Amino acid sequence: MKIKVIHGPNLNMLGIREVNLYGPMKLDDINKNMEVVAKQNGFDIEFYQSNHEGDIVDAIQECLSEGVDGLIINPAAFTHYSIAIRDAIAALRSNGLPVVEVHLTNTAAREEFRQKSLISPVVAGTIAGFGPFSYHLGLIAMMQILNEIKMAKEVQKQGQ
Ligand code: DQA
Repeated sequence: MKIKVIHGPNLNMLGIREVNLYGPMKLDDINKNMEVVAKQNGFDIEFYQSNHEGDIVDAIQECLSEGVDGLIINPAAFTHYSIAIRDAIAALRSNGLPVVEVHLTNTAAREEFRQKSLISPVVAGTIAGFGPFSYHLGLIAMMQILNEIKMAKEVQKQGQ
């Protein structure tokens, strides 16, 4: 099964950007750690980062044509105002494709404008506040969801 990870704007600057908030780890290293864990558990994983809203919408839509089984997304600043990204995620959900939202920081404890996520109502769940480990937890959650979907399909098949 295949998992796609999408990182939103400015996450390519991890390790350089507001290190006091987001930590010293670079995006490549976060991706490498996720890749090891995904592979160990028998999942394929691919990564995409963009600073552009429309490109992220395209990357979300493409999950349906690329045989992606689950999406992990940190929409970064778009979390708080992108109806387009929310709608793209809702389209995946309506096609049975699970989405997990991830944030490095605990957005609920930050500025008021970060406390609202337009994305949270259309995802399976949100993990925030654990630094790069949020991605690891998001991956564990996604693998659990996909294993449950797989088991449910097998049970359904046996019953036919
Ligand atoms: C973020 C939180 C957002 O508010 C912010 O705009 C980001 C990163 C996080 O991972 O904590 O760029 O999504």
